[in-house]
Amino acid sequence: MGLQLTEGLNFNTIKMKKIIIITLIFIGLTSCVKHKAEPIIKDVPVGEVDPNCPDTIVFSAQIMNDIFVMNCNGCHILGGSGESNGVFTNHANISDEADKILKALKHESGVTAMPLGSSDPLNDSLINAFDCWMKQGKLNN
Ligand code: HEC
Repeated sequence: MGLQLTEGLNFNTIKMKKIIIITLIFIGLTSCVKHKAEPIIKDVPVGEVDPNCPDTIVFSAQIMNDIFVMNCNGCHILGGSGESNGVFTNHANISDEADKILKALKHESGVTAMPLGSSDPLNDSLINAFDCWMKQGKLNN
């Protein structure tokens, strides 16, 4: 009697183990099927935070000063050698030409690469700041 009970338990235990293993394999397989590879860079819907732009860019400091005063206003001011191609001295005149400025900063085709006279583009963090400022709605802050 005692022996029978033990054998019965052993049999049930092995059966249970099999069921558990099969269930785990099944869960493993189905979860593989569901998880498709997601693109690393996704289009960010309007109103959501772009992971590349976690902080709000401050126009006066990060755009006006760090980019234009430091790198562009030797030429792009009234009377400067770049005047006829853009005077970039305030929020309004920079915002109006933002698309073209970004292309020039990124050294993209179709525009003259800027800053003029330098074969290297500005530091990535400056270009990224300009890109983010545009994506964030060209704030005047
Ligand atoms: C040494 C003077 C000089 C500096 C510094 C300079 N530019 Fe220019 N920029 C020019 C001149 C000259 C042109 C016209 C070049 C041409 O089209 O041949 C120009 C053209 C441009 C254009 C129009 C490009 C096109 O093809 O339509 C943009 C936009 C521009 N600059 C942005 C900038 C920005 C942004 C900076 C700073 C990061 C900058 N520039 C720095 C002199 C300068």
